[in-house]
Amino acid sequence: MTRHLLTGAELSADEIHALLDRALELKREPSQPQVLGGRSVALIFEKPSTRTRLTFDTGVHELGGHPVVLRGDEMQLSRGESPRDTALVLSRHVSAIGIRTGADAIIEELAEHATVPVINMLTAGHHPCQALADLLTLKEAFGDVRGLKLAYVGDGNNVARSLAIVGGLAGVEIAVASPPGYELEPEAGGTRHTDPYEAVAGAHAIYADVWVSMGDEETADERRAALEPYRIDDALLEAAAPDAIALHCLPAHPGEEITESVLYGERQRIWDQAENRRHAQKALIELLVS
Ligand code: CP
Ligand code: NVA
Repeated sequence: MTRHLLTGAELSADEIHALLDRALELKREPSQPQVLGGRSVALIFEKPSTRTRLTFDTGVHELGGHPVVLRGDEMQLSRGESPRDTALVLSRHVSAIGIRTGADAIIEELAEHATVPVINMLTAGHHPCQALADLLTLKEAFGDVRGLKLAYVGDGNNVARSLAIVGGLAGVEIAVASPPGYELEPEAGGTRHTDPYEAVAGAHAIYADVWVSMGDEETADERRAALEPYRIDDALLEAAAPDAIALHCLPAHPGEEITESVLYGERQRIWDQAENRRHAQKALIELLVS
């Protein structure tokens, strides 16, 4: 049966822990067994990307495969061809399909009709590949992620949702601090707070994402005003556990959701986190195509 990764909820706790172990092995030996062996993987980008494109492209290459990067605006998808027909055609040529798009309904339709694994490379609702890399970064910092607490501070968006779902499955306590109107829905998991200091108490990691996600540009001013008290700075980091680290999925806007001093400071693991996208995604591809 074809397995997909749309939200992360498709994975069991055991699979997530095994994936993290495997990702660490792949980080040590990047080109060990090449599971894709000459096969191709389609990577569709309907939104901008730096890290996701780079890490899927290089990761597929390291697994012995050929990445076929497709820009949404160059595909017939942009002229009305359905996700269903796109899935039927792509499935004849590639061993997996990654897609970064807007509405989750698009990736759901693609997955319903694809006969190869479909991987969510970010939708408005979810960013599960980011959450896997985040867990890998926690594992590197603390040895085991089970029992850790991560405090996400900011908009209750796709990144927060995936942390709550995937982190929750892996046994990480996820606390989300957001202003009224920007909360993550309770069904995603984790705990909700309005006070960022309350959320970070005892946290092993504090986590920032942009205040204005792709697609939210029209409400940028009101978002920046509402989220102003939700910046990660040295004082907030000091209020977390003594060995706490700072994380950010990037791209960062220094001075908005994170200060320069935290972004480039001694306690950040943000640049490792960006590297870990590749290792975690390679382990994911191995799991899904094997
Ligand atoms: N974190 C992340 O997904 O970065 P990109 O948007 O650059 O891919
Ligand atoms: N929440 C952000 C994440 C970017 C990687 C967005 O969707 O734009």
